[in-house]
Amino acid sequence: MATGRTLPHVIVFANEKGGTGKSTTAVHVAIALQARGSRVAAFDLDHRQRTMTRYFENRVATEKRSGRDLPTPRFAAHDGESLPRFSEALEQLSRDMDFLVIDTPGRDDRFGRMAATRADTLVTPMNDSFVDFDLIGQVDPDTYKVTRPSFYAELIWDARKAKAKSDGVAMDWVVLRNRLQHIEARNMRRVSEALGQLAKRVGFRIIPGLGERVIYRELFPKGLTMIDSRDFGDMGLAHVAARQELREMMAALALPEPALPLFA
Ligand SMILES: Nc1ncnc2c1ncn2[C@@H]1O[C@H](COP(=O)(O)OP(=O)(O)O)[C@@H](O)[C@H]1O
Ligand SMILES: [Mg+2]
Repeated sequence: MATGRTLPHVIVFANEKGGTGKSTTAVHVAIALQARGSRVAAFDLDHRQRTMTRYFENRVATEKRSGRDLPTPRFAAHDGESLPRFSEALEQLSRDMDFLVIDTPGRDDRFGRMAATRADTLVTPMNDSFVDFDLIGQVDPDTYKVTRPSFYAELIWDARKAKAKSDGVAMDWVVLRNRLQHIEARNMRRVSEALGQLAKRVGFRIIPGLGERVIYRELFPKGLTMIDSRDFGDMGLAHVAARQELREMMAALALPEPALPLFA
């Protein structure tokens, strides 16, 4: 039994750029963990878009409509302004939880920064594009070799130091490649190489994320994910592949395993 004093493993999805897949990935990770039997809470710091919150609200509505049980994390959204409310929500959401998943806005945000300093796992999703890469590192226009890390990499570096100082626990910074294409493209290879160079220099891991699939955009109104296979009816081969990439992403995140074996 949990004592209520154990702190959850905090996973923060952060990238000061919009549209990189933070919310979509955060929802999938939170539900995958809940579905395997972990106790999960989710905190949405993007008070303007509230994508993660809307996703879970849609899920609750689907659950009511269908009468089926859908594993859903405890969730809350921040107002984007109040520090006491931020701290209070963190405290409440952390109680008796194994994981706390925090989604942040795609812009500089003080609560996003504060969340980053608490991350056990900090996930930065990015698309295979030098436009996305630019936020974490700059490349030479001719050779595509990394010339220097960008401000965001330095910011995470500082968050890491702050975290290590406050609780002595190291942060695992993971750059997750979202919307991977299945065709081999020259750009993709160049971005891979540049990422590999920067990873060594700045100290992050690179993992594969979700592939580029229409299904990830279509599931939102029902609040469903690839995990909810029962609610899809017949799953095509593409869905089987999507579930597989989700499993691979979860394995690559290397999150703590449940303390007790689960018999779900
Ligand atoms: N793997 C994917 N395949 C296809 N579309 C995706 C994928 N991941 C995200 N998207 C779409 O990209 C857009 C941005 O994703 P979102 O998760 O909202 O990013 P962020 O939270 O970083 O702004 C949304 O329209 C979303 O449905
Ligand atoms: Mg978002």
